[in-house]
Formats: sequence, structure tokens, C-alpha cells
Amino acid sequence: MPLTDSFGRTIRYLRVSVTDRCNMRCDYCRPSVEPMLPDHVELLTLEEIARLVRLFVGLGVDRFRLTGGEPLLRRNLLSLVRELGAMPGLHELSLTTNALLLDRFAHDLRAAGVRRVNISLDSLTPETFARITRGGDLTRVLAGIDAAVQAGLAPVKVNMVVMRGVNEHEIPEMIRFAARNGLLLRFIETMPIGDAGQSYPERFISAAEILRIAREAFGQEPLPADPAVGLGAGPARYFRIEGTGAEVGVIAARSRHFCDTCNRMRLTSRGGLVLCLGAMDVVDLKTPLRAGASDEALLETIRAAVAMKPARHQFDAASVQLSPTLNMASVGG
Ligand code: GTP
Ligand code: 5AD
Ligand code: SF4
Repeated sequence: MPLTDSFGRTIRYLRVSVTDRCNMRCDYCRPSVEPMLPDHVELLTLEEIARLVRLFVGLGVDRFRLTGGEPLLRRNLLSLVRELGAMPGLHELSLTTNALLLDRFAHDLRAAGVRRVNISLDSLTPETFARITRGGDLTRVLAGIDAAVQAGLAPVKVNMVVMRGVNEHEIPEMIRFAARNGLLLRFIETMPIGDAGQSYPERFISAAEILRIAREAFGQEPLPADPAVGLGAGPARYFRIEGTGAEVGVIAARSRHFCDTCNRMRLTSRGGLVLCLGAMDVVDLKTPLRAGASDEALLETIRAAVAMKPARHQFDAASVQLSPTLNMASVGG
């Protein structure tokens, strides 16, 4: 029986965070004061993650995305990828990464069963990139993007969080860059989560304004793209910009929320099941898992959690402060 919540939405996509750690410190994602990082014992083991994924597959969830922090920092990630990649009933395995280490991993990820990757890239200017990521090396990320394309991970999607006064002037150049390199660019509205909430009011730019900037730069109205574009189960809406060869997506979490069609939940690296990105509800799966719960008992806990999934996020409230131990970096976006 499909996993359906109390609003009739079917859950078929799980985002699995495999670590809280990250080798960047994007200012809209990481808190300005780092929470204590968990001891290793607090993290789900790879075996525990695989067991939970198997249970979700049994409930009809067939798309999984590995996230972090930065997922490529998780030790032995490839062995987990291999296991998930071969799991019957698991239809799609993808990964969201900052790409700093991707040139080293792209080929092996593809061989182990990852089909496609989404990469965060907010600027093509080394200084701006370093400022946003608090020290990230743009050259490494560009090498990672190249390696992903070479390895046949497809499509390679690039996520740009657009922020007023920070990078919105780079929208046209990002579109040209994506078209040149065969990447699917998505513009993301800044979400008021955790510390990002503090700079959010000045920085927020709506999807409509982002599309207007693109229209003014290219003199073309962005037109809805072919429905096959994106292949995703995600919330992006896609457009093509005539004359550029580019197709771009917008993820309008705030201005045009997509909660009515939400199909996903999130598992944190510490075993919390996050029911909604923009609400505080988290159901602990690790405690029953470690107390020796049977598969049936865990399935029951998961079903009960899904039944509690809220109708929509609360981004309209001043700012969603996820609990101090749960921030965007540990939820994985
Ligand atoms: P695709 O299947 O490739 O479309 O994946 P995706 O867009 O779901 O994944 P990705 O990790 O690239 O996320 C892109 C952005 O969308 C991130 O900023 C996420 O936080 C945001 N996003 C993904 N799912 C949700 C959601 O359920 N609610 C909200 N508010 N934002 C989401
Ligand atoms: N608002 C919007 N997107 C965010 N991400 C991280 N923090 C935020 C935020 N506050 C994005 C990253 C990454 C994705 C997983 O989540 O840019 O591409
Ligand atoms: Fe790391 Fe991604 Fe958060 Fe940036 S957005 S700090 S790369 S987890």
C-alpha cells in the first residue's frame, strides 16, 4: 500500500543525509556558531541507513537522494551507494553535493549506481564564491562539475541560491555558463531557515523577479520547457530561454510554494525523520532502531510519522528556526 499522508499526498521520495559535516560553510546554510558536531556513535551507521532505506522501499518510496552536509565526506559512502544502487525496487538514486571532491568521486559514483547529481554553485566569480562559502575554492568545484559530465552523470543540475546584493547580477552569466556546459541550472529562492533567516528579508528575491532579470538580459520571455525536462521528483518549474540554448528551473519555495504536491521526507544523519523542511517536526527512528525494533515496528513508526506530516511549511512566519541541533546543513536542503 502506498505511503499516503493525511492530506492524500503520496510519499515516494526520501532525502537521506549521511553526514552533518561539510567542507564549505555557506553563510545561508551553516549557523554562524557551529553546534557541537555529533560523535560518530550518534550517526546512523551505513548498515542502519541501508536497513531504513530497504524499509522505505517496501513502503513504495522509490527515489532516494543522498545529501549532507557534504555527502562525499562520509567514510565508505561508495559501499552504501553500491548497496542502494543494487536494491530491488529502488528506482532512482541521486546525490546533492558541493562538488569540491567530485572530480575524485564522479566516476566511481556512476559505476556504483548514482544516476545524476545536483551541484550547488552560487557564483562564477572566485571572490564572491569564496565569500558566500566562507573559503570555498571555485576551481575545485568547476573541476567537479566537469568530472560529473565526463562520468556520464546526467543531467547535471546546478543549484544557485539567488540573493539580492550578493549574486543576482550573475544570473545572465550563469545561464550562459550552463548552456555552454550542458548543465541544467536552477535558481532557488532563499529560504528563511536557521541563521539564514537573519539576512533573509534583505536578500530574498522571488522567482518572478529572477525570471524578469533573465528576460531583460536576453530579450526573450522564458517559456515553459518540455515537461520531460528535469526528470526530477523535485519542486522545480522549468523554462527555456530562446536563443541561449538554456533551460532553467526555478524553485520558489516561498513565493509559490509547492507543499500541496509534496512527495518527500528527509532522514537526518542522526536518524531523525524530518516530516517537512519548513516545520519543526522530527520523528526519532534511531532510538527504536538501536533498541532492537522489528521491521514491523519500524514500519509502523514510519507510517505513524507520515500521518503527522504537516500541510505546508511555515516560511511566512518570521523565520523558521529549526531546533539548534537541526539546521539546514544537517537536514541536507
Ligand atoms: P530534483 O529531483 O533533481 O529536482 O531534486 P531536488 O530539487 O528535490 O533536490 P536538490 O537537493 O537539488 O534541492 C534543490 C533545492 O530545493 C534545495 O534548496 C532544497 O532545499 C529545495 N527543496 C527540495 N525539496 C524541498 C521541499 O520539500 N520543500 C522546500 N521548501 N524546499 C525543497
Ligand atoms: N535557502 C535556499 N536554499 C538553500 N540551500 C541551503 N540552504 C538554503 C537556504 N537557506 C540549498 C543549497 C543546496 C541545496 C541542497 O540546498 O544551495 O543546493
Ligand atoms: Fe555545505 Fe551545502 Fe550547506 Fe554549503 S549549502 S555549507 S555546501 S551543506
